[in-house]
Amino acid sequence: MLDNVFLQDNFPLRQAAMKKNQMIVTETSRLLLRYFSWDDLNDMAAIYADPVVMTFRGGPRNYENTKQHFKWIFENYKKPGFELWAIVDKADNKFIGNCGVIPQEVDGQPENEMGYILAKEYWGRGLATEAACAVRDYGFNKLGYSRLVALIDSGNIASQRVAMKAGLTYEKNTSMWGKTVRVYAIHNHKLPQPRHSSYCFR
Ligand SMILES: CC(C)(COP(=O)(O)OP(=O)(O)OC[C@H]1O[C@@H](n2cnc3c(N)ncnc32)[C@H](O)[C@@H]1OP(=O)(O)O)[C@@H](O)C(=O)NCCC(=O)NCCS
Repeated sequence: MLDNVFLQDNFPLRQAAMKKNQMIVTETSRLLLRYFSWDDLNDMAAIYADPVVMTFRGGPRNYENTKQHFKWIFENYKKPGFELWAIVDKADNKFIGNCGVIPQEVDGQPENEMGYILAKEYWGRGLATEAACAVRDYGFNKLGYSRLVALIDSGNIASQRVAMKAGLTYEKNTSMWGKTVRVYAIHNHKLPQPRHSSYCFR
């Protein structure tokens, strides 16, 4: 399923995270990105219950549904290549969303999908872009992905902007989750080198 035989899996870190809560994966100037723990359930459920946040994510989820989603996350932490992380605001250590990379099949091909979601009160401050650039850099530099994609609803302009600011470009449309989505992609070698960590495009 993975795009690179040299992929450095975070399996040991995920295993440790499941024993010791809240293992940090990486950070940006304003954010910590860390593995989930069950302590995040209420905060995640509040975000997933917001119909505005979930407009392009299949609509709001109830608490039980988010709990099932958490079980799915922890099951997937045992598998290679599944890197879904909590986003924490460094200013007050609050959980504000999630981001990461999930293996997907797109048009019959294995791909690694970047995703991000933030609580509504944190929108419009460049935080998703900051998180997406960190996911990209950690994915390329530490985990060894050679290509990342984002699968975005055509109406989700904010998400498309985040993807483009992280350096992804539109490739094609495809059918996923019963709808047409836009596929944005980036290859590791297409990034300017040398560059500072979390380089973002304007
Ligand atoms: C997508 C999302 C993560 C963006 O978060 P954010 O922190 O507000 O994004 P940023 O502040 O980094 O903004 C990135 C760009 O998007 C633009 N943008 C943000 N919201 C926008 C909107 N509603 N319409 C148009 N552009 C928008 C910003 O202006 C910025 O571009 P600019 O620098 O050229 O001005 C957030 O809206 C969200 O959580 N949405 C719900 C979940 C979701 O759809 N996730 C993506 C699934 S594919």
